[in-house]
Amino acid sequence: MTITTQALFETEAAVARNGVGKPGLLHPVRVTGLGVAVPPARLTNADLEQMVDTSDEWIVTRTGIRERRIAAPEVATSDLALAAARAAIADAGIPVSEIDLLIVATITPDHLFPATACLVQAGLGLPGIPAFDLSAGCSGLAYALDQAWHGLAAGAYRNALVIGADTLSRIVDFSDRRTAVLFGDGAAALVLHRGEPGEDAGILASHLGADGRGGSLLILPAGGSRKPASHATVAAREHFLRMNGQEVFKFAVRILEESTRQVLAKAGYSPADLDLFVPHQANIRIIEAARERLGLPPERVVVNVDRFGNTSAASIGLALAEARERGRLRPGALVALTGFGTGLTWGSILLRWTKTENDGGQK
Ligand code: COA
Repeated sequence: MTITTQALFETEAAVARNGVGKPGLLHPVRVTGLGVAVPPARLTNADLEQMVDTSDEWIVTRTGIRERRIAAPEVATSDLALAAARAAIADAGIPVSEIDLLIVATITPDHLFPATACLVQAGLGLPGIPAFDLSAGCSGLAYALDQAWHGLAAGAYRNALVIGADTLSRIVDFSDRRTAVLFGDGAAALVLHRGEPGEDAGILASHLGADGRGGSLLILPAGGSRKPASHATVAAREHFLRMNGQEVFKFAVRILEESTRQVLAKAGYSPADLDLFVPHQANIRIIEAARERLGLPPERVVVNVDRFGNTSAASIGLALAEARERGRLRPGALVALTGFGTGLTWGSILLRWTKTENDGGQK
C-alpha cells in the first residue's frame, strides 16, 4: 500500500497537538558512554558484482555505498551487541554492576525468544536487572533512547545501557540485486546516566512516531506466527526481507526532515541551531535530500553510509561514534539523531553533547 504524504502530515499534526513527549521530567539525563562493534569482513561493490547483476557505478550513484561489514557465520546479533556494550561501559568508566536497565533495539534477534537483551545481560554478568528487546527497525536506537531517557528522568533507573544491533546480512537475499547491495552488520551502545536535578541535561527532547499502514513496504514475510517456517516459505525465499524501495525512499526523505524539525521545535530550536545532524545511514541521496530541506551545510551532517551501508538499529550510533572519533562532537554541541524504518517508524533524539573524555580520541 502507499502512504500519502498528506496522511503522514495528519499523523504528525495529531502528535504535535497531543503534546506527546513533554512529560514532567525530574532528572537530567546525559550520555556518559559510547561504544561500537562491527565485524572485520568487508563486502565490497566489486564482490557484489560477482554475486548479482549490478555494478559499482550503479550502487555508488544510487546509494553512496561502497562497502559494508558482514558478520562471520558463527557471529550473531548478541555477539556484536555484547562487544559494543562492553566498549560503552568502559567508555563510561563505571563498573558493569552500575547498569540497572538494558534495552536492545534489533529486528534480527538471535532467536524469536529469548530476547537478545537477555543474552547480552548474561554475557555481561548482570542478573536481575530488567532486559528487553525493542522492535522498531532502523528507528530502534532512537526509540530505545527515548524509553531509557524517560525511565531515568522519572527516577526509576540510574544507568541505562541502550544498544542498537543488527545482522541484516542474515535476512538479505543475496540473489536479489534490489536489496543485496544496501545492508550491513554492526552494533552501537550508549550508556545513559541520571544526573541530579539542576545539573545540565544531555537529552533535551525526543520525537517518535509510527504508521503501521506502511507495514508491508519493508517486511520479513515468513518465520513468525503469520507464516511459520515451512518448506514452502523457504522455497519462496520468504525468510528474506522484501522492500518497496521507491515508496520507502519517498517516506524517508519526508520523515527525516519532518521528525528532525519536530524534535528541534520541542526544545525551542530550529535547524539553523544544529551543530551536528546524525541521520540514519540508508542512502546518501536520502541524506542529501533531507540535508537540503533542512538547510544544513554538509559539514554539519555525519555520513558513513559509504563504508557501512544500512546497519539498521546500529546506524545512528555508529555514525555518532565516528563523529566523536573525528573530533566533530565538541562539548555543548547540539546534536540531532534521526532514524526511520520498518513499521513504518521514525524517531529523533535531540541532545547536548556533555561527555568530554575520549572525545576526538583513539576509539
Ligand atoms: N544494480 C543494478 N540495477 C539495479 C539494482 C542494482 N543493485 N537495483 C535495482 N536496479 C534496477 C532496477 O531493476 C530498475 O531497473 P528497471 O528500470 O529495468 O526495472 C532500476 O535499477 C531502477 O530501480 P529503482 O528501484 O527505481 O531505483 P531507485 O533509484 O529507486 O534506487 C533504491 C533503488 C533501493 C536504492 C532506493 O529506492 C532506496 O534507497 N530506497 C530506500 C531504501 C531504504 O532506505 N530502505 C531501508 C529503510 S530503513
